Amino acid sequence: MRKRIIAFISAIVVILVAVVGYNLYNNRQTRSNSSTVGRQSSQQVTRSKTTKSNGNGKTLVVYFSRKEGVSGGPLKVGNTKVIADYIQQHTGADEYEIKAAKSYPKGYQATADQAQKEQENNARPKIKGSLPDVSKYDTVFVGAPVWWGEYPMIVRTFLDATDLNGKTVIPFTTHMGSGLGNTQEQLEKQYPKAKVRKGLGVEGTEAKNSKGTVDKWLNKLGY
Ligand SMILES: Cc1cc2nc3c(=O)[nH]c(=O)nc-3n(C[C@H](O)[C@H](O)[C@H](O)COP(=O)(O)O)c2cc1C
Repeated sequence: MRKRIIAFISAIVVILVAVVGYNLYNNRQTRSNSSTVGRQSSQQVTRSKTTKSNGNGKTLVVYFSRKEGVSGGPLKVGNTKVIADYIQQHTGADEYEIKAAKSYPKGYQATADQAQKEQENNARPKIKGSLPDVSKYDTVFVGAPVWWGEYPMIVRTFLDATDLNGKTVIPFTTHMGSGLGNTQEQLEKQYPKAKVRKGLGVEGTEAKNSKGTVDKWLNKLGY
């Protein structure tokens, strides 16, 4: 009888230890998961310190840009980032940079070859880190260098993964003669329920001198 009572108490103790241990483990997992998500999103979206409102709600500037230029660079800041920053300064928007999980080669020709292959294969190169929570924004600017007449395929990765229907979406590019390329049409096709507004294409070599042009364009858009 005494043996039975001891066995019963031991079984209860084992069950209690298992339940408490499982709960402790679960709590720790939940805490570490949420802190990882928090860290990723605050890492990649640069929150504006100067949020201005033009009555259109919150604005996000998404851009992809390389520092290598076409002559092997390196530039201090990529051409498209220059324009993204001008838009950010004027609108008080948040900023999100699309970064490639596997960086593009430094040289122009190697990047040109890779970009061409990606286009031919309709590839969706992986983006590094997390995507922004676009549900918070009413207006999203989408900027990139024109690559072979259109957005680089890594921007298409972003567009496929992000639903901007119902929002105002505005393209901008830097380029060497193609203007906006077909970026405006790409956005219209991708998001039939978005309001795609008139974009701006700036010659890459003129990016730094184009603050006035950017401001004028934004004024026309109501910013
Ligand atoms: C792979 C590749 C393809 C390009 N294709 C075009 C093009 O089709 N039309 C054009 O006008 N410029 C083209 N360019 C030039 C870039 O659009 C231009 O240099 C741009 O300002 C680079 O921006 P970034 O410094 O933000 O990367 C191309 C550049 C690269 C690297």
